[in-house]
Amino acid sequence: MDTPITVLGICGSLRKLSVNRGLLRAAQQLTPQGVALEVFDLLGIPPYNQDDEAQPPALVTALKARIRAADAILFATPEYNYSIPGVLKNAIDWASRPYGDNAWAGKPVAIMGASPGMLGTARAQYHLRQCFVFLDMHAVNKPEVMIGLAGQRCDAEGNLTDDKSKQAIGNLLAALAALTRKLK
Ligand code: FNR
Repeated sequence: MDTPITVLGICGSLRKLSVNRGLLRAAQQLTPQGVALEVFDLLGIPPYNQDDEAQPPALVTALKARIRAADAILFATPEYNYSIPGVLKNAIDWASRPYGDNAWAGKPVAIMGASPGMLGTARAQYHLRQCFVFLDMHAVNKPEVMIGLAGQRCDAEGNLTDDKSKQAIGNLLAALAALTRKLK
């Protein structure tokens, strides 16, 4: 039997009807055998302030504990102004600090994203990949799950309805599980 794996899913949108939250809900229905996907909500994490690194906000301490407890990370992110949404970058920055206490280090990670445009968050995803270098994370390279034209592939509640996109998410989870087991 395959080693059980816990994945922590993090959405880069705080919006209730977010299509990217919808991707995480879909992913929870598509996990391969032996993989559990939990979600951490970034709502309420204050803006990063280096003055507070020694005594971070409780939510940041909780986030770092959840990252450390997880075997792998799955980001579902929108693209804001061709890049990573501030709430997600803010959470990434908090959990990487103080220097020498980077909770992300060594974690396998996968990215998916949806947007109403054609490119399906491609530019934000490549900016995230650049951050993973300094964070010392191990990114799944393929498949790339960039879901464009989200208005046609999700319903009004942000639920993913498109079968091809669901298949791509299933493949991404399988690749994340394989990388996680390889690195263990
Ligand atoms: C956007 N949106 C957007 N879309 C895109 O494909 N490329 C972009 O650069 C941007 N830029 C952008 C900036 C800001 C500030 C907002 C609020 C929105 C549109 C965005 O993809 C759309 O609102 C998504 O629905 C956001 O994802 P959630 O919240 O549905 O997960």
